[in-house]
Amino acid sequence: MNLTHNRALLAIDQGTTSTRAILFSVTGKILSIKQKESNLYYPHKGWVEQRPDDLWHDTLSVSRAVITDAQLSGIQVAGIGITNQRETTLIWDRNTGEPVYNAIVWQDRRTVDLCAKLKDSGHEKSIIEKTGLIIDPYFSATKIAWILDNIEGSRARAEKGDLAFGTIDTFLLWKLTKGTVHATDVTNASRTMLFNISTLQWDKDLLNIFNIPVTLLPEVKENVAFFGETKVDLLGAAYVIGGMAGDQHAAMIGQGCLKPGMIKATYGTGCFALMNAGSDFKISKHKLLTTIGYRIGNNACYALEGSIFSAGAAIQWLRDNLGLLVDAPQSEAIALSVTDSNEVYFVPAFTGLGAPYWKPNARGAIMGISRESNGAHIVRAALEAQGYQSRDLINVMEAECGNMNLTEILRIDGGLTGNAFVCQFLADMLDKTVEIPAVMESTAWGAAALAGLQCGLLTDLEEISKNWVCAHRFQPQISKNKRRTLYDGWKKAVNSVLANC
Ligand code: G3P
Repeated sequence: MNLTHNRALLAIDQGTTSTRAILFSVTGKILSIKQKESNLYYPHKGWVEQRPDDLWHDTLSVSRAVITDAQLSGIQVAGIGITNQRETTLIWDRNTGEPVYNAIVWQDRRTVDLCAKLKDSGHEKSIIEKTGLIIDPYFSATKIAWILDNIEGSRARAEKGDLAFGTIDTFLLWKLTKGTVHATDVTNASRTMLFNISTLQWDKDLLNIFNIPVTLLPEVKENVAFFGETKVDLLGAAYVIGGMAGDQHAAMIGQGCLKPGMIKATYGTGCFALMNAGSDFKISKHKLLTTIGYRIGNNACYALEGSIFSAGAAIQWLRDNLGLLVDAPQSEAIALSVTDSNEVYFVPAFTGLGAPYWKPNARGAIMGISRESNGAHIVRAALEAQGYQSRDLINVMEAECGNMNLTEILRIDGGLTGNAFVCQFLADMLDKTVEIPAVMESTAWGAAALAGLQCGLLTDLEEISKNWVCAHRFQPQISKNKRRTLYDGWKKAVNSVLANC
């Protein structure tokens, strides 16, 4: 094991449904991992919230547990990298640290009407040109505006400079440094809809459009930087926080997608496919998002992103709401217990449809049910939906690519990649080779690697991509005709969902 004098890297990965701390060797080997499930609250239809205290205490407890493991093994933590669910919005008091409201989660749809108004007022074009983003409740800006407009006194406090806004990275950094650092990184900033991704600055015009005071905003740094040091009484030592990135961007780094045309897709709560789009900013012509891939000095790229709001969330729903599964892994055996979905299609639009449809009001549907349909067909249809939704994205990426060669390989990670049925169906539906890395925790590894670059344990990004190893490979196995027939059925199902919203 290469520990470089017993030094290792700690990644904090605060995702939508869990908070994890993972200790990595410099080659990406997992030395210790601790995890806590996160609670989500649904106070009204379409609203999704989390308690800031839960997120903080979970972070503290998993980090402490991993640091204890490191100490017991005589390993020194050389640096910390933070990665996080993006867009989720928090505002807190700079003096007391008290949040003014719960975290509004990226899936939350409460600002649908505000988004419609912004579109009607003709702001769509300038917002896309500056941020690369399509107006949707998904992003932070309308969530911030909602808090300022609905929580009594918050706008006045924000204008006085008493409040701070942050996505979860910023909040954790603030807490770990006991309120001494209010900062974010370029990738998280690029998801707020307030950040100009060409000039790399908070944008005055956007702040005016959303009526958000600049006093709320954190300083923006590159992905590798001295973000701050943890306070000794929290984790037992002053550890340097040397890397931060939104989870999908961190996964792109962890997956070694450093060349234009390379794509990774992470199947977590949602699915997010990011294609390295090179160093020039281009707006998508096909309703993908343009976002900052990463920025580390001269080493920087944009990414085209396809965001699917429900991937693993659909399997959770089958387990928790329909009781069709005892646990998520069981879905594989159930799907394989039938030869096909019997023409059942599952459109998991629980919180609207993201790319390439962008319909926040769409809702899910299970279609094609007959007297012969059973639970296994529904489970299989939910798993197949991952392949169809991914195909929707890859189709537009192909259209977008122009002269740039889109790779014939899709690198995947996230919880659903443990499901061999899903992986094979992805290869079949995309007609691409699907690869799973040996370092399965790509997101956390990407964040740890950023910290490794800051503290000198890693030399450059190339080192990460050179060391990337494929653990499993799935090749397409179905005929062109079968692929077309199956996908046509999906298109019909999605179109009928779209027609009803
Ligand atoms: O944009 C939302 C995304 O960052 C959430 O990722 O893995 O928590 O579903 P995940």
